[in-house]
This record gives sequence, structure tokens and C-alpha cells, in this order.
Amino acid sequence: MKKVEIHPEAVERVKKFTINDTVLGFGKYMSPIMIQGLYDNGEWQQFDLLPYGPISLDPCTKVLHYGQEIFEGMKAFRHPDEKVYMFRPEQNARRFNHSARRMAMPEIPEEQFLQCCDIITAYSHHLVPKRLGESLYLRPFMIATEVGLGIKPAKQFLFMIVASPSGAYFSGDSVKVYVEKKDIRAADGGTGAAKTGGNYAASLQSYKKTLEAGCDQTLWLDAIEHKYIEEMSGMNFFAIINGVLHTPSLTDTILNGITRHSIIEIMGLDKRQVVEKRMDINELLKHVEDGSCTEAFVCGTASVVAPISQFQLADGSIYHLKEPMGPQAMKIRERLIGIQAGRDEAPAGWLRPTPNLEF
Ligand SMILES: Cc1ncc(COP(=O)(O)O)c(C=O)c1O
Repeated sequence: MKKVEIHPEAVERVKKFTINDTVLGFGKYMSPIMIQGLYDNGEWQQFDLLPYGPISLDPCTKVLHYGQEIFEGMKAFRHPDEKVYMFRPEQNARRFNHSARRMAMPEIPEEQFLQCCDIITAYSHHLVPKRLGESLYLRPFMIATEVGLGIKPAKQFLFMIVASPSGAYFSGDSVKVYVEKKDIRAADGGTGAAKTGGNYAASLQSYKKTLEAGCDQTLWLDAIEHKYIEEMSGMNFFAIINGVLHTPSLTDTILNGITRHSIIEIMGLDKRQVVEKRMDINELLKHVEDGSCTEAFVCGTASVVAPISQFQLADGSIYHLKEPMGPQAMKIRERLIGIQAGRDEAPAGWLRPTPNLEF
């Protein structure tokens, strides 16, 4: 593993940096430092902690044309004892490498990834907000930096991590879901299970439709029959049917969400059943209509858990959930936030303490 070179200008910058706003938002403020790692000649060459700033790219850099890019999203929390912990970052390291393999990019050793996360978090310690639901959001990413217009896997890459002190993403309003029956997000054998920019770019046409329909989130269906529920553009999906939690089983068209996985594990600890199976949207809507599906919710790192109030189709028909405020979803949300924020006991290995630095 390479040692991260700490640049004194970065330390000076972050030491002096404060945020005097009570409304942090999401991605509105950035810690004034960043991690940068360079890959060339078949290996990771060096890692640096630098002042945050623009990066300069040749107009023919491959990522700008062919989208060879991956990213992650994860959070660090300040606990009541003032210590800062990351939530399951090993899972993000693993998923980052899964995405890297799919996109013909180099893997980064998990320990190296985690060390870089530790360092940016430790140097941003005083910027990790305090209030329940707030966090330091980490955004690791990697881009192909080789220059040239030939379509082939690049040989040079840039790995970076930036960090944003963030507020609770969920406004308190339930989510209105637009069911996308025409466009698709991911197909079997494609990149749906990788966290790569192209998946998000391809979702934006539907996001426009979603907003025009007065909804908040797009619900994606399978690419072949256009009827099996997959996920949202940036979140996974759950429904409570006859009192039991249901979620679509993972395929290579669905991102393996760490929040999804954590909810399934928490339910397991409580001896509560979670059904993972193919879920037909038409059956689900019938269950919503006849009241056997009382609640549905979305989940992900940014939003944690947010209840769904309604499903809307392109023809304007609307299916209202019996429990639009999602009382059970909110209980799951509180449980997760409690664990993340150090209010409730965390299952072993879920929280990684950030090293204490004197600087
Ligand atoms: C497409 C997609 N699905 C699901 C999720 C939820 O994953 P996680 O819970 O790991 O944030 C995300 C966010 O990372 C996502 O981008």
C-alpha cells in the first residue's frame, strides 16, 4: 500500500476553514481538501492529500468522450462522544472494485481505498456536522485520464475523493414515484450493477418526464418485459405487502445498495422476514389498490429511507399508498440513523472509527 503524501498547503487550508451556515444541504459545501491518486504503467503510482481545486484535462481525455468513470457515495458521522465513524466503508471499497472491473478500470486495494477515506475524513474532522441525520458525505471517484480519441480501455487513471459536510437529505415529504414503462435503465449483461456515470446520464430523460408529471423519483422496470421492478435512479426499493417487507432480488441490472443490504440484515437480527424476489409492477399496483400493500419506500446512502406516497403512470393514473407517511419505513429509518449516529448499538463491524489527528 502507498503512503498518502500530506501536502502542508492542504492542512493549512482545512485548519482555517469553517462553515457558518445552519442549512448544509447536500453537496453545497465542500471540505477544502481532496485526495488524488495516479495510476500509470500498470500500477498505482502515488496518493496525495491536496487543497481542493479544479483539475486540468486535455480536451481529448478519454473520460470526456467515452465515459470510462466510476464513483461511490458514503458517509461519516460524528457521534455524541465527538469521535467520527464511517458507515460500512469496506462495502463501498468492494463495490468500487466491482464497478472498476465492469468498466475495465484498475482496482484499488481495499486497504488503500480505506486509508484515503480515513485521511480526508480525519483532516476534515472539525467539518463533520453534529446534528442527527447530518454527515460528512464522501465521494470517491475514478476517471480515465489517458489522452486520445481511440475507443479502447485507457491505461492512465485518476482516483479522487472529495468530501461534503451535508444535512439530512430527506425533507420530510414522502416521495411521489413515476413508473417508467418505456425507457430502460439497465439490461442484462450491461452496467446496471456498476456505479458508473453513464447509468445516471441515461436516466435523466426520464427524470425530466418524472418532474413534468409532478413526481420526485423514477421507478425503473426490467428491460425485456417492462414489468419487473428494479430500482430508482439512485436508490433501492422496498414495499410492505401483507405486513412483510419485499424488495426486488438482485440481478446484474440493479445496484447492490449498502442501505438495502443493511436493512435486510437489521430485519434478520430482529427475526423479521424480508422477501427478495422478482416483483411485478402490475401485481404491486393491485396490492396498493386493494390495500394489502400499505407502504413502500426508497433507500440509499443519501436519503437513508424515505416513504413513498404514490405511484403514477404515464397515462396519469395514480395509486395512493394507504400509509403515505410510512410509519414502518420511518421506524427503519430511525433505526438506521440511530446506528449511524452512535445513538443505538451497531452490529459488529458496521462503523469504522476515523483516526485522531493532532494538526
Ligand atoms: C442506482 C442506485 N441504486 C441504489 C443506490 C443505493 O445504494 P447505497 O445504499 O449503497 O447508497 C444508489 C446509491 O448509491 C444508486 O446510485
